[in-house]
Amino acid sequence: MKKLSDTFTLTNGYEIPVLGYGTWQVTNPEECVEGVINAVKSGYRHIDTAQMYGNEEYVGEGIRQSGIPREELFITTKINNINHGYDAVRKSTDESLEKLGLEYLDLVLIHWPVVKSANGDWQQDDIDTWRALEDLYEEGKLKAIGISNFAVKHLENIVDNCRIVPMVNQIKLFPGVLQEDTVALSRKHNMVIEAYSPLAPIKELSEDEKVQAMCEKYGKSVAQLLLRFSLQHEFLPLTKSVHEDRIKENADIFDFEISAEDMSYLDSLSFEHFSKPEDDKAR
Ligand SMILES: NC(=O)c1ccc[n+]([C@@H]2O[C@H](COP(=O)([O-])OP(=O)(O)OC[C@H]3O[C@@H](n4cnc5c(N)ncnc54)[C@H](OP(=O)(O)O)[C@@H]3O)[C@@H](O)[C@H]2O)c1
Repeated sequence: MKKLSDTFTLTNGYEIPVLGYGTWQVTNPEECVEGVINAVKSGYRHIDTAQMYGNEEYVGEGIRQSGIPREELFITTKINNINHGYDAVRKSTDESLEKLGLEYLDLVLIHWPVVKSANGDWQQDDIDTWRALEDLYEEGKLKAIGISNFAVKHLENIVDNCRIVPMVNQIKLFPGVLQEDTVALSRKHNMVIEAYSPLAPIKELSEDEKVQAMCEKYGKSVAQLLLRFSLQHEFLPLTKSVHEDRIKENADIFDFEISAEDMSYLDSLSFEHFSKPEDDKAR
């Protein structure tokens, strides 16, 4: 991982760029279009959206306006909780393609494992939802498929009942929330682990004297330290900003290495107020 254009290789051989631009909570059309354009201009080639974010049209517009050939970009969306089930996955994936203005998606994830519409039987619901993604993948509409927010029991259910093992698990990961069991099981099945909300503890870390000293030593901001921390764990960080200077800053993380001692310190941090992943809660 020496540069922004470096990739991880998924189990099917498809390449995924090591840093992604996130678009959660970017619902203002101009901000979203501009954000995507600025990310592409700054060298990001991987963009993460979701049906739930309500911004696929604007992300699509940003992609078109960026002027970069489609095949040089890696675009992810996620199946909304209300679109679980075989038929709804197929229909909503077509809608996502239409909104984004794309012929294919690089990656589609099941956004959340336990949803209200499953009426308690989340196991069968996830299996049906996954089967639709497997079929869409085999039909060539999706280059890769995966899951998000799946903890150990959700992973086991899918892995035990699938034709194709998920290629990616996108989960909440940052100092204080490291989800060791989920990471270990995802790795056992050779999934690439994407880290969402990697900057969540930015305020807490900014107030920590040891972290301040690290920033001084490496000549980097807390945001850059957090993103580098993620990469050094071999996670694939997704990060969002609507500000061009921060978009650039967040991509400038390939010219330093956090020492083993500093990584251990960051690993040891814990913060009461960050919710642990509440995987049992239906949404
Ligand atoms: N699968 C899921 O359930 C799930 C859940 C959450 C997120 N995600 C994905 O992961 C992506 C990343 O997570 P996230 O949106 O929580 O992003 P994040 O990158 O961890 O944090 C974004 C926040 O940090 C601020 N920020 C960004 N760069 C900064 C910098 N250099 N210095 C100071 N503040 C900075 C942003 O504000 P400004 O925009 O004002 O700069 C924004 O408030 C999402 O956008 C989404 O695509 C997925």
